[in-house]
Amino acid sequence: MPEQMMKRYAAMTEAALDRYVPQEEGYAGRLTDACRYSLLGGGKRLRPALLLEFYRLCGGAPEDALPFACGLEMIHTYSLIHDDLPCMDNDDYRRGRLSNHKVYGEAVATLAGDALLNRAFEIMLSQTAVPTERAVAAAAYIGRCSGVFGMIGGQIEDLLLEGKAPSERELLQMISKKTGALLRAACVGGCLLAGAPQEKLEAAEQYADTLGMAFQIRDDLLDVIGDSAALGKATGSDAAKQKSTFVSLCGQEECQRRVDDLTVRAVRAAGAFEGNGFLTALARQLARRDH
Ligand code: IPE
Ligand code: IPE
Ligand code: MG
Ligand code: MG
Ligand code: MG
Repeated sequence: MPEQMMKRYAAMTEAALDRYVPQEEGYAGRLTDACRYSLLGGGKRLRPALLLEFYRLCGGAPEDALPFACGLEMIHTYSLIHDDLPCMDNDDYRRGRLSNHKVYGEAVATLAGDALLNRAFEIMLSQTAVPTERAVAAAAYIGRCSGVFGMIGGQIEDLLLEGKAPSERELLQMISKKTGALLRAACVGGCLLAGAPQEKLEAAEQYADTLGMAFQIRDDLLDVIGDSAALGKATGSDAAKQKSTFVSLCGQEECQRRVDDLTVRAVRAAGAFEGNGFLTALARQLARRDH
């Protein structure tokens, strides 16, 4: 059941992304090539699925939330394009193929990321299916989660902590921003879009925070024990860059123990939503994921 739902959400998202970022002619064509290369080339589509599901659980029809699901996936994809650049993590593979800058060069990859970010907000704020007030609230929230107080803020901490030995608290804070924030954008964003009450927003935030932390600890673990073919990205990248991760802080076994513990907490938070089968199955599946 969750696999089928995931596939359905991914298919809806991918069909809409294809429409939202069409191929352009002339000089702009180079840019849309680069955008479409990363955007339509794989990925689990986790954030759009969460946004659509929370919107549905709060009483909405998922189709109406598609501009937000796609906008968020565009923000996530831009963050990956920039994350792989030589000036950041310097990774050559992503989603099972060469990174954007390895195909299009660093300048075009940088601009493709910028273009996706701007297009995301254009799409979210041009939609007409959801009342404007809710759409603006969701877009503002997603913007905050994506910026200095969220993903970007986490990325700078990640970079500045390279080669250092941060405390557990510092690591938790960094992960809560670099990865947790876009999951909060998905879960809480979907609820805001549906006009959900405060207690639902809080439960969605709790689910996102625990799921996001588990997700990044598992990502760090997979960078050590994972298979690069299954992952679609190189392994050993964190150690090569002297990244501070939970694996370097507390070892592999303790990492998985934490992932499992966080997953239990995510499942508990999902209890606030009636019909939460997808949320609970997804959390459990991600705790053991290999890609
Ligand atoms: C990768 O995110 C970046 C992290 C936050 C660890 P995903 O693992 O969701 O990447 P895709 O979208 O499936 O490629
Ligand atoms: C990714 O963290 C976080 C963002 C891209 C915002 P990582 O640098 O660990 O992600 P991967 O391992 O490259 O996917
Ligand atoms: Mg990184
Ligand atoms: Mg990286
Ligand atoms: Mg990683």
